[in-house]
Amino acid sequence: MFTRIMSMSSIKGRLGLPCLSTVSYSTGIPSFKKDYTRQAAIAQNEIFHGTNIFDYRQAYRLALDAKKKDKTYRHFNNINRLADEFPRAHTSSPKDRVTVWCSNDYLGMSRNPVVLDRMTKTLSKYGAGAGGTRNISGHNQHAVDLERICARLHKKEAGLVFSSCYVANDATLSTLGAKLPNCTILSDSMNHASMIHGIRNSRANKIIYAHNDMEDLERKLASLPLEDPKIIALESVYSMSGSVAPLEIVCDLAERYGAITFLDEVHAVGMYGPHGAGVAEHLDFDAHRNYSGKGGTILDRIDIISGTFGKAFGCIGGYIAGDAELIDFIRSYAPNFIFTTSLPPADMAGAAAAITYQIEYPEDRILQQLHVRELKEKLHNANIPVVPNPSHIIPILVGNAELAKKASDLLLARWGIYVQAINYPTVPHGQERLRVTPTPGHTSELQEELTEALTDVWQTLGIKTVADWERVGGFLGVGDPKVTKPSPLWTKEQLAGLKSTPGT
Ligand SMILES: Cc1ncc(COP(=O)(O)O)c(C=O)c1O
Repeated sequence: MFTRIMSMSSIKGRLGLPCLSTVSYSTGIPSFKKDYTRQAAIAQNEIFHGTNIFDYRQAYRLALDAKKKDKTYRHFNNINRLADEFPRAHTSSPKDRVTVWCSNDYLGMSRNPVVLDRMTKTLSKYGAGAGGTRNISGHNQHAVDLERICARLHKKEAGLVFSSCYVANDATLSTLGAKLPNCTILSDSMNHASMIHGIRNSRANKIIYAHNDMEDLERKLASLPLEDPKIIALESVYSMSGSVAPLEIVCDLAERYGAITFLDEVHAVGMYGPHGAGVAEHLDFDAHRNYSGKGGTILDRIDIISGTFGKAFGCIGGYIAGDAELIDFIRSYAPNFIFTTSLPPADMAGAAAAITYQIEYPEDRILQQLHVRELKEKLHNANIPVVPNPSHIIPILVGNAELAKKASDLLLARWGIYVQAINYPTVPHGQERLRVTPTPGHTSELQEELTEALTDVWQTLGIKTVADWERVGGFLGVGDPKVTKPSPLWTKEQLAGLKSTPGT
């Protein structure tokens, strides 16, 4: 048998288990790194049972136990969001109702009648699946139309659709980093896993700059040869903190040091800008609103934008938009675009309908912003610790993994309110939180209920309030006298002055 003729050390080597000379363990069990000799000896013994046949289940169990022990094991709740009762859902029992407060279906577009109608008709006419990769039989009018709409949304020459934005980010950064000679990718320290993966997969030189720290970014850009290609990879709205990147300075630096910009607008498309194109559009609000043409806006200066159809647009899939040559280059070289079945026609038609709707009707995102302001105010008055930011995301600081999970469980059990706890590795240890995302459907009454529920849960579990954080000098901007409250990206005038423009 194969395992019998291999030496123990070569089996371990092949499986990524530690041999005597290595100190890391590829299953990622954290404690192995801390105490290699004792832990590794125990684990090897448990995995091999004194034989040379690998015990796969035991390896899985050990890794899972490590997660359970440090309270980062992920529990999924069975939550079935109901299109007709948004933002309500039923649990595993179809009769039990809960209110969902943590969905990224920010605008409720997953149940928008225009989207549903388009999807239903497309499904009946063109069937369930695309039938293949884009190269074989998955290229169709829906893909062409959707890519045209994505390009138009961001005022770029072309767009390219992927099965998700995770794939879009990974494919674009890994292909660019691998194919551009001597390329360096400069990545914000809070970037999403999809970008981190893409950068790693590219094997290009990677430099991390401190989150939103433009001095650090400039220092690092200046250290690189001007003639070498560089990509600055960042997000506009950071999903776990709600912080917003200083895009104008990023564009200035990119131009000064010969870099291109890759901007993930996943949490901003549909949500910001007169047409829902994201923060880059929002920052030149009046110019875009009045269609004062191309030239010199931040949107024009950003080289590549990635977005998702899965959050504010309520559907599924991801995309990039940029220059025609760039798009053709990724289309031609990225394996994660080439070798996978394309999105079903109905999904692409639904996404196209959702974007077009949001280009024409800003009312949903305006109401969403108004609800965010109102809820932030209510939570502030109730002494609930919200990490300050200028965006639509409401991160409520807990600061402990076990307490965050308990708070989430108690909200569900006692109040019928669903807010998932956010733990490591999504946020660093000690920064655990509840991430609340109001939608146009989260009325004042629902906000009052949430505020009352959080106050009750905070008291029951003894979680730190704003006043408690103040006493320890503040944390993440909560209870920190040095931090001033950022102004919201949407100004009062923008919220009051923007009207629908059907047929644009
Ligand atoms: C910042 C960011 N980028 C990319 C993605 C991936 O998008 P998708 O859900 O379309 O794969 C996410 C998903 O949560 C995200 O938060």
